[in-house]
Amino acid sequence: MNTNIDLSQLCTLGVGGVAESFAAPDSPEEVQQLIKAAKGSPVYVLGGGSNIIFPDGVIHGLVISTRNLSTITWHDDMSADIQAGYKLPVLVKTLRDKNLAGLEFAAGIPGSLGGAVSGNAGAGGHGVCELIESVLAIDSSGSFRVYNQKDFSFEYRKCSLACENIIILSVKMKFREAKPEEDENIYQKFLSLRKNQPLNFRSAGCTFKNPEGNSAGKLLDDCGCKNLRVGGAVVSDRHANFILNTGNASSSDVTGLIKICSDKVFNNTGIRLEQEIKNASPCFFALL
Ligand code: EPU
Repeated sequence: MNTNIDLSQLCTLGVGGVAESFAAPDSPEEVQQLIKAAKGSPVYVLGGGSNIIFPDGVIHGLVISTRNLSTITWHDDMSADIQAGYKLPVLVKTLRDKNLAGLEFAAGIPGSLGGAVSGNAGAGGHGVCELIESVLAIDSSGSFRVYNQKDFSFEYRKCSLACENIIILSVKMKFREAKPEEDENIYQKFLSLRKNQPLNFRSAGCTFKNPEGNSAGKLLDDCGCKNLRVGGAVVSDRHANFILNTGNASSSDVTGLIKICSDKVFNNTGIRLEQEIKNASPCFFALL
């Protein structure tokens, strides 16, 4: 366990305060022990840090990083248990190397598998939750629990497990044999969709979800949000759904800019955009 860890260094947007307590456990059992030791205080889970904003200042409680939960255990040729900290880009590469398919749409998406599952990360109408057979988590009583397909639901950028006050530890996923040329083309197509994104700058990807039948990026662009700035945070002039840290942004700069953009779109169109980037929120566990 460490104290006073600067979370801005661990989040791709480069903003966020200091964790009072921080740990990167090596096993599910160690996660459970940490929860017991936290004695009911707030527990935050940090995956790859690519879709989350922690507030400025001191984050009271414990931040658990999943980065050392990073094994993959194959059951057979097609299915595996993959720990929450396993990086999504590594998983995509592992599958390509093994001639397996199913996750082509995740080409170029950063972050950890646990984070990807909790937000049903994806592209082009697909999300990672489609491939899940079951999820191992620690539930709010502090016990290990397996969630089968029937125990949770998901839709565009949403997974019911994210509202469950649980910590996702590992995910059993099933893939299929690749059709080499066809699946490679799909992979390349998804990769090329990211060409108009400002990927050389610090960001947390798309700020808002696309409203049904509409594009958040286009709405923000049409409403004149490009280049709007609060402190060190600016809306990309390349893609209006990306907020960039120009070097010295704070978390409140980013959240202030998110509100300005959201209000601008609402006032112009009557559409209230839903935030895609997650504001860090704690889990609470029963005293064990
Ligand atoms: N557009 C504009 N102005 C802009 C940005 C976009 O007019 O500033 C227009 C584009 O020209 C296009 C439409 O809006 O006609 C949609 O834009 P784009 O093709 O860039 O896709 P997107 O809907 O903004 C989605 C995902 C991305 C994913 C891409 C590619 C969401 C919120 N975003 O972007 O996911 O990478 O498709 O697959 O679903 C993320 O989740 O962090 C993310 C970046």
